Amino acid sequence: MRLTVAEIKSKLIIIARKAYQSIIRHGFDNSGLTKSKIMFSGLLMHIQPVKVHRRSLKFKTTLGLGLLSFYLFIVLCITGILLMFHYVPSVSVGPDGLPEAYQRMLNLRSNVFWGVFVRNMHRWAAHGMVALVALHMLRTFLTGSYRSPREFNWVVGVICLLLTVLLSYTGYLLPWDQLAYWGVKVGTEIAKIAPGGEIIRGLLLGDNDVGGEALLRFYVLHVAVLPVALTIFISIHFFRIRKDGGLARPDDTSQEKHIPLTEMGEVKNNSVFKEARSYKLVEIVRGTEPKVNEEVDQMVFSWPKLIVREVIVFIFLMGILSIVSLYFEAPLEGPADPNHPTNPSKAPWYFLGLQELVSYNAFIGGVALPGLIVALLLFFPYIEVFVETLFDIKRGGISGKWFGKERILENSIFLTIFASMFVLIIIGSLFRGANWEFVYPWNLHSGGVH
Ligand code: HEM
Repeated sequence: MRLTVAEIKSKLIIIARKAYQSIIRHGFDNSGLTKSKIMFSGLLMHIQPVKVHRRSLKFKTTLGLGLLSFYLFIVLCITGILLMFHYVPSVSVGPDGLPEAYQRMLNLRSNVFWGVFVRNMHRWAAHGMVALVALHMLRTFLTGSYRSPREFNWVVGVICLLLTVLLSYTGYLLPWDQLAYWGVKVGTEIAKIAPGGEIIRGLLLGDNDVGGEALLRFYVLHVAVLPVALTIFISIHFFRIRKDGGLARPDDTSQEKHIPLTEMGEVKNNSVFKEARSYKLVEIVRGTEPKVNEEVDQMVFSWPKLIVREVIVFIFLMGILSIVSLYFEAPLEGPADPNHPTNPSKAPWYFLGLQELVSYNAFIGGVALPGLIVALLLFFPYIEVFVETLFDIKRGGISGKWFGKERILENSIFLTIFASMFVLIIIGSLFRGANWEFVYPWNLHSGGVH
């Protein structure tokens, strides 16, 4: 069979088209069917709903904080894996007189291609994630988005926050420099004061003091146990957002200012339930059809508006993180020396509020208050349900609204606690020098924010 050049060309095009269609099985036209197919047919797309409420697309609704936290987690996993190719969690002293873990950090600086950049990115992303997850929690509280039916997802969120802090803290020890050693030493000394704290400390350190065993345990927790646990809890968190009917919003949003539907492309309400969508078929069969506050007319296709926004947020984040990682180097002090404490010895910044309180009263700052804060955070939505049920207080439709006037008391208390912790962190970071004496930031020569 002899083929002309034109025939070969057209056959190649057919083969290429077949290959393309084996992967991408939809077009990109503006029809609702195509938009649904796009959301259904890819793994990453399929995790998200085919349609979202118009309100969810507005920046003001979430400030993008949950999404940014998630992206940072992905960045941390990728940069963390790259660092694992080089790092060794060992305190054995090499021929150059340096512990191996520390030596590996120096190597990243001098011998590994883009090593410093990857380390910087990992470090700044970790700090950023702790801060953004805390801000995301503040946002969900101030908008009352933890209220029914999202109470359980709030609890899952608090577990994510605790895991995030633990992940950051366990990673803190790995460079095995003075900052890491004494930062972790301070934290684990505080743990001793708690009832049962000695046992937890012993389990965590695998020894009486911070040493080689602790480094190995922190490493395993940091690279395997905690990331897997956080992945599981983030998955439950996202699953629950879907099952709770998307993001929280007031009962009726028709009077709110929305992105105009004309900007949204085709939006057709084909639902048989015109006012509220029911999404559990089995419930319909039983005849208990649950309504999930979904104003069908306000729902728009996730493709392309939501996806484009998500990509923009990602590009924005990567831009900022790359610039920060290029210009600001993650700290690395001298190798860990258990005989020469740094003065002051400071815990990582997110624990400095508590360390500041410990300097007034060890039990209150180190045990009672953190315990109370975590317990209150975990159970707050249920405490509210308890109080409202007990006193027959009816407050429907107040979730999803920033600073709702019906929730002034709760918001004021939460904001006060959050702001106090922030102030304490600033004092601990910038106004405490040697022997934990008060100094002005411009006189602070060591032990600033880290
Ligand atoms: C690793 C940590 C976390 C990640 C990656 C994460 C991610 C997300 C994302 C992507 C959303 C969708 C809305 C948005 O972007 O803001 C969301 C919603 C939500 N998150 Fe988180 N989250 C985390 C931690 C938390 C924490 C600490 C809390 C509270 C204690 C929390 C409570 C909630 C609640 C209640 C919603 C539903 C909000 C609504 O309906 O408007 N999350 N989360």
